[in-house]
Amino acid sequence: MQKINAAITAVNGYVPDYILTNRELETMVDTNDEWITTRTGIRERRILRGEGVATSDLAVPAVQGLLQKRGIGAEEIDLIIFCTSTPDMPIPATANILAHKIGAKNAWGYDLQAACSGFVYGLTTGAQFIESGKHQKVLVVGGDRMSSIVNYEDRATCILFGDGCGAVLLEPNTEGYGVIDSVLKSDGAGCQNLFMKAGGSLKPATHATVDAKEHYAYQEGQAVFKAAVTNMADVAVEVIDRNNLKSEDIAWLVPHQANKRIIDATASRAGVPPEKVMVNIDRFGNTTNGTIPLCLWEWESKLKKGDNLILAAFGGGFTWGAMYLKWAY
Ligand code: UT7
Repeated sequence: MQKINAAITAVNGYVPDYILTNRELETMVDTNDEWITTRTGIRERRILRGEGVATSDLAVPAVQGLLQKRGIGAEEIDLIIFCTSTPDMPIPATANILAHKIGAKNAWGYDLQAACSGFVYGLTTGAQFIESGKHQKVLVVGGDRMSSIVNYEDRATCILFGDGCGAVLLEPNTEGYGVIDSVLKSDGAGCQNLFMKAGGSLKPATHATVDAKEHYAYQEGQAVFKAAVTNMADVAVEVIDRNNLKSEDIAWLVPHQANKRIIDATASRAGVPPEKVMVNIDRFGNTTNGTIPLCLWEWESKLKKGDNLILAAFGGGFTWGAMYLKWAY
């Protein structure tokens, strides 16, 4: 029997219109454009403004555009894996809400929470359903409305994050294209360096937790930076080495976009020159689960069938991972 790979056959993305610039942040907290640009590489990020809107509203246009590109209807989707750290609400899963909004009547789905590594976890998980022969069309969505959990009085975090969503469709491929390999890791010892202190079962939200602003994302930036810079590069190198790839074999490095300095360090360790590294952090900031699929969306026209792509991510948890894909179209 021929081996079935899970190949990405369509990609699309969506970012909201509102642009929050470094200059505007200067009017909100004690920061400046020069500090943000040199320490993070971020110039601006997109924000989904308004009441009654949520992460699923970022996903709807991303997925509808994807279905249109691929020329299929929503009812053909078998499974939706929604990778997010900012679900519309704790119950039910945002995957269900999205399925309803787009009319994916025949799909089942679930949310996957692995902080900034969510998309590589989700892509690896989704690939299993294709490789096993169980499903024909799996939608992997990575999106976050980070502005809903960011404290815009905390200069250490509010300058980093943005809102956005990307989505890919996985389908079977028997020509050797698609997901080839992945290395996924986690270490819960890193929990206290990037987390939300309240709002979960450990510390349910109360007036006191809200007054203490514990319903926002909290980060020990330096500790996360140190862990990210080593681990993201380690897994990228591991997946490159165990597939006997040389740097010239790699068409693109697609890194999670948390800090330009982490991206540069990973590219340098992986031996990938800057012109082969996808970077959107300057315009979108850290969109958490959205970073990697948004890169694929923006670079889609430059990708060629057979291109070797290395994806790499690091996030809260800690979670991290890297993947090797052969682009299928
Ligand atoms: O995607 C999930 C994983 N997340 C990450 O990978 C993020 C990893 N961490 C980082 O990217 C960096 O640690 C940050 C960008 C968050 C911070 O950069 P840093 O170079 O580690 O700065 P720092 O935290 O060591 O702070 C240096 C100084 C401090 O002032 P003092 O103590 O030296 O006087 C901070 O108070 O910079 C100050 N600072 C700021 N100054 C202006 C912190 N935030 C700001 C700010 N504007 N926004």
